[in-house]
Amino acid sequence: MRPQLLQYVAILVLTGLCATTALAVRPKDGPDTRAEGRRIYARACAWCHGAEGKGDGPAGWSIGRYSAPRPRDFTADSYKFRSTPSGELPTDQDLFRTITHGIPGSMPSYRSLNERERWQVIAYVRSLNPAFQQETPTPIALPSPPPFPSEDGIRNGRALYAKYECRTCHGDNAAGDGPESKAGHLRDAHQLPITATNLTDPSAFKNGATPQDLYRSIMTGLDGTPMPSYADEFAGQEQAVWDLVWYLQSLSGQPGK
Ligand code: HEC
Ligand code: HEC
Repeated sequence: MRPQLLQYVAILVLTGLCATTALAVRPKDGPDTRAEGRRIYARACAWCHGAEGKGDGPAGWSIGRYSAPRPRDFTADSYKFRSTPSGELPTDQDLFRTITHGIPGSMPSYRSLNERERWQVIAYVRSLNPAFQQETPTPIALPSPPPFPSEDGIRNGRALYAKYECRTCHGDNAAGDGPESKAGHLRDAHQLPITATNLTDPSAFKNGATPQDLYRSIMTGLDGTPMPSYADEFAGQEQAVWDLVWYLQSLSGQPGK
């Protein structure tokens, strides 16, 4: 009995391992991978992003026909959630992160697809914009956060928030109620009204809420929206960006997490 049981367990473990490895493997980009991706796209994405990827799927209308954000037009729009400089395409890892996490308020998480399926759909999405074949997106340096924010750091962050006039859009207390946002002056690249993020509510952050995510949002900007990149302002001043990040995190009582 015993050896048989062991054999049985061994087979179970091996099958499990093979299955996990097969799912984790990223398929090579090519006609077959894209065809698989297209099939997944038709079921999971087209109802919002449109049959041809132009952002005009039927369900997109229910998100808000006359306000931002609309589902992305994969053939022409720029990308918001990047680790690359403003004006550039996202990396594959950026796309993988967005699809895995989803976008609060706009798009579900696609953890329900296995990793292989997510890579397949990414290959298809990339094929809709020829620029992906011409450029290799290169991420900016994303340093690890320093271990502990200090009171001085948070104070300096608050000063930087004032200095760079984040308040005009995000508001004095970063609740998304700055004068430009409240007056309805902000527009996205399609001239649709858009509001500034309430930076005191990390659960609603689209681009992630870890210190490194905030660093990325500030340094790369959210292309296609009024949120600019501050890469020039903070060139060579990594610590200043962290101070600003700690300040934003302190607003929701979670500096250092
Ligand atoms: C319920 C509607 C909906 C579905 C379904 C949906 N999306 Fe989206 N998606 C959106 C909206 C809305 C946006 C724009 C959000 C924004 O700009 O803040 C978006 C944006 C994106 C972006 C752009 C991110 C960026 O950096 O600008 C990618 C990539 C994306 N979706 C991929 C997918 C894929 C792949 C699928 C299917 C597996 C999918 N989406 C399914 C609504 C949807
Ligand atoms: C001209 C208006 C404007 C200014 C100035 C501005 N922002 Fe923004 N910011 C926006 C808008 C609009 C969004 C939301 C874009 C969206 O929803 O797609 C945003 C988004 C963000 C996000 C990402 C939130 C998320 O959902 O992940 C962060 C972080 C942020 N801003 C921080 C700052 C900081 C820090 C400053 C100053 C250094 C600043 N912003 C200056 C308009 C602005």
